[in-house]
Amino acid sequence: MKHILPKELSIPEVQRLLQGGIGPRPIALVSTISKNGANNLTPFSFFNVFGANPPVIAFSPSRRGRDGSLKDTYLNLIETKECVVNSVTYSMVEQISLASTEYEYGIDEFIKSGLTPIDSDLVKPKRVKESPFQMECRLLEIRSFGEGGASANIAICEVVKFHVAEDLFVNGVIHPDRIDLVARMSADFYCRASGDAIFEVEKPIAKKGIGYDQLPEFMKQSFVFSANNLGKFANKEKIPTEEEVNDFIQKIKTESFTEYEISEEAFNRYQRLGNYKYMLRCALDLNLSSDKKKYFLELTAKLALEKNDSDFAWKTALFSGKFN
Ligand SMILES: Cc1cc2nc3c(=O)[nH]c(=O)nc-3n(C[C@H](O)[C@H](O)[C@H](O)COP(=O)(O)O)c2cc1C
Repeated sequence: MKHILPKELSIPEVQRLLQGGIGPRPIALVSTISKNGANNLTPFSFFNVFGANPPVIAFSPSRRGRDGSLKDTYLNLIETKECVVNSVTYSMVEQISLASTEYEYGIDEFIKSGLTPIDSDLVKPKRVKESPFQMECRLLEIRSFGEGGASANIAICEVVKFHVAEDLFVNGVIHPDRIDLVARMSADFYCRASGDAIFEVEKPIAKKGIGYDQLPEFMKQSFVFSANNLGKFANKEKIPTEEEVNDFIQKIKTESFTEYEISEEAFNRYQRLGNYKYMLRCALDLNLSSDKKKYFLELTAKLALEKNDSDFAWKTALFSGKFN
């Protein structure tokens, strides 16, 4: 590990470090207006949501790194105390990058970037038509820390109206594939938050998982289960009893399986096909050494877990403990 005190680095080095280690950062495409009515549009990735009651978001139009001067967005916010924060999708990324150009004060980045301004309902700054998620906001306060280049000016805003494209929703929730957001990483790297980048982790809020410390030692020692697998096992509220495990195994052993084959080759094939139930039956029926039996049972439990069948996974994993 490198161990670094911020004061040992130059300001650009501190900035690069922070941008490398804190990400992916969501991007706010912020529209403001000067008191003379000139539009301004700029992306900010020092941005997030901080509460829902009332809806509060914040972003930081920092002082310019090269000379410590204040950015147009900051000046407009101080003057007119309103903005529209638009989410940034993959289809807009090159245009929002263009909007980040340091044009002179008063230059309209809607015109420069080719993005389309549309009227807001409650505030003067325009919304960005191409963005499927737009928030009309009023400034609550700006907190500044430092006065040199790259110092923070955190603009804390209340959302007073949302505009959301209807086709983003699947079962009442905005689906990541539908909104296709992009985020900022280090240097010129961005990331696209859809497709293979998306996965689900069950929230532990509604229940109280047993915790990592309560996992049986033989499971923690396994070479098959990853740290993520163990974290998921530990999210279960109650470990199945020995009786429940035995009943489960008995049921699998006596169930009739169509087109079922007993061989190590078949086990591997069932694994490739994601068929953990057939894997278990095969692992039980095969004549294997104790070590190999345990290994096959663990592979089965792992696949069941990754397919979100945690009850099956737990019972199989506990049964594998008999072959220690
Ligand atoms: C994706 C992206 C994210 C950015 N995030 C920030 C940020 O969080 N804070 C900041 O001060 N500048 C950020 N910038 C740079 C500003 O967009 C740039 O300084 C811009 O010219 C400021 O515009 P303004 O003077 O019109 O407000 C970012 C640029 C890009 C492309």
